[in-house]
Amino acid sequence: MNPVTPAPGRDRLRIAIQKSGRLAEPARALLASCGLSWRESRDRLFCYGESLPIDLLLVRDDDIPGLIADGVCDLGIVGRNVLAEQDLAGRADTDGPRFRELRPLGFGGCRLAIAVPDAWQWREPSQLAGTRIATSYPQLLSQWLQGQGIAAQVVLLSGSVEIAPRLGQADAICDLVSSGATLAANQLKPVQTLLDSEAVLAGPAVDFDDVRAELMELLLRRLDGALRIRRSKLLMFQASRELLPTLLPLLPDAEEPTVMRIDGAERLALQALCHGALTWQRLEELKRAGARGLMVLPVEGLLA
Ligand code: PRP
Ligand code: ZN
Repeated sequence: MNPVTPAPGRDRLRIAIQKSGRLAEPARALLASCGLSWRESRDRLFCYGESLPIDLLLVRDDDIPGLIADGVCDLGIVGRNVLAEQDLAGRADTDGPRFRELRPLGFGGCRLAIAVPDAWQWREPSQLAGTRIATSYPQLLSQWLQGQGIAAQVVLLSGSVEIAPRLGQADAICDLVSSGATLAANQLKPVQTLLDSEAVLAGPAVDFDDVRAELMELLLRRLDGALRIRRSKLLMFQASRELLPTLLPLLPDAEEPTVMRIDGAERLALQALCHGALTWQRLEELKRAGARGLMVLPVEGLLA
């Protein structure tokens, strides 16, 4: 192969994202915030990159790891749960990993959990011995059961796992929990978390050695900037000078605040760019410590 001319079609980066479902919109919005724009094909399965040679392929989330492993797509945005399950499944017939998680993306948060009927008196995992557990995640469940030394029957279902106990197909389930509404609606309760998940950027296990390496570097740089901005907030408040030693350590991952004097020397107005989570709880702590007029503002852009 001539190393100077890349194989046809591989001088562009191709990212697989979910066509519809809970990761679809946020995934596109995140990529758009990295300055990517596309022209959509008529069938809406392919988006041709206009601002950069980075195209999108809209697919079923469960297909994304395989598309990356087969080299059909270069990157993908998919739940860690799907990636982890298919990674384990692939280990059976290949030696090393076929894809890897490159970045957690901070949306689509959920957990893979075991849930049992509300009526169960739950004490410990060993109660699952001898039961039937319905799931779409047989690899992750089997691995966990094995680690716990529990012999249970894994019942593979591709969907509607939560109704399996009512239908008598299983005694418990192992499924994704986000808000918990699905479990509650089916008189089930989560009792054990197997995996904390969120949307991640996934890529192949080996680095690219053509023009895609540069495109990926550019994308990751912009992505890191976009993710940092999303988490960042500008916090403004007032306080008297002597309280600063107590207040400043309470600012989550803050940059050096801008301090302005008001009402002479004792009263201060502060502006701090916080990169950590500014929760309600944290704001209440600041207020208790003497901060007044607390205001949190979103950050639209950052250029250090
Ligand atoms: C998951 C899971 C549950 C539901 C839980 O399915 O299988 O049905 O979400 O969410 P809740 O705790 O907020 O009620 P999802 O919609 O992600 O679709 P999929 O697993 O079929 O891809
Ligand atoms: Zn799915």
